[in-house]
Amino acid sequence: MRRFLIAGNWKMHNGPAATRSLLTELNEEVPDIPDSLDALVCPPFVSLEAASEKVRKHFGLFLGAQNLHFEDEGAYTGEVTADMLKEVGCEYVIVGHSERREYFGETDKTVNLKVKKAVSEGIKPIFCVGESLKQRKAGEHVNLVKKQVQVALNEVEASDAEDVVVAYEPLWAIGTGETATPEQAQEMHDMIRGELAELYDEDTSDAIRILYGGSMKPHNAEDLLGQPDVDGGLIGGASLKAESFADIIRIAEELS
Ligand code: PGA
Repeated sequence: MRRFLIAGNWKMHNGPAATRSLLTELNEEVPDIPDSLDALVCPPFVSLEAASEKVRKHFGLFLGAQNLHFEDEGAYTGEVTADMLKEVGCEYVIVGHSERREYFGETDKTVNLKVKKAVSEGIKPIFCVGESLKQRKAGEHVNLVKKQVQVALNEVEASDAEDVVVAYEPLWAIGTGETATPEQAQEMHDMIRGELAELYDEDTSDAIRILYGGSMKPHNAEDLLGQPDVDGGLIGGASLKAESFADIIRIAEELS
């Protein structure tokens, strides 16, 4: 069985001071991250250093960023490199979140460049895929997500692919309180797993974690995480409160 990855995507919330407070509260809720799973927080760039100090003292909690640039350096105002993320202790990075695709012009192509840069630098990318409600209603979701997976992993070797994490996040479920049903999530995760086996092989596909994201909360986490191909969650709103994030970690531990 794959290890669950419970990842908090804080989005544009929590500066350094709020980051220290939230991680202190989380530490009180979960003094030790269970050995059976991985847990991760992804604060904004300016809070990574503050988080890093806390995370180092909080055994077992990993640190991730919400974006990176695919070049090593240069005149790219407002961007950060993989090296910079490593320097502050990031082991994961979210790539191609739907909000980055929608508001900041990210495409499948830039997602691919970023995935390749992250794996080449030893950072595990969590790349996001998912369809809009319109695309689902039109019956386009399967092919669209399949293509997003194919392009994101273009030229990524099997040996590197095992470090990649896929996050299936239906756009209509993000921040809306509306969640995919466990059956809808499993159907898409199973399809993604099959596509990964096509691109690589069964073993590699089995090793890659596929997270569900989109209004995962303590009240629905058990049903979602209980699906055979759901290997964790990318959690927005519920990761901003220590109690609800800790509750989801505890639910995952029970299912591990
Ligand atoms: P949500 O966000 O849990 O608030 O829906 C998930 C995400 O966007 O990663």
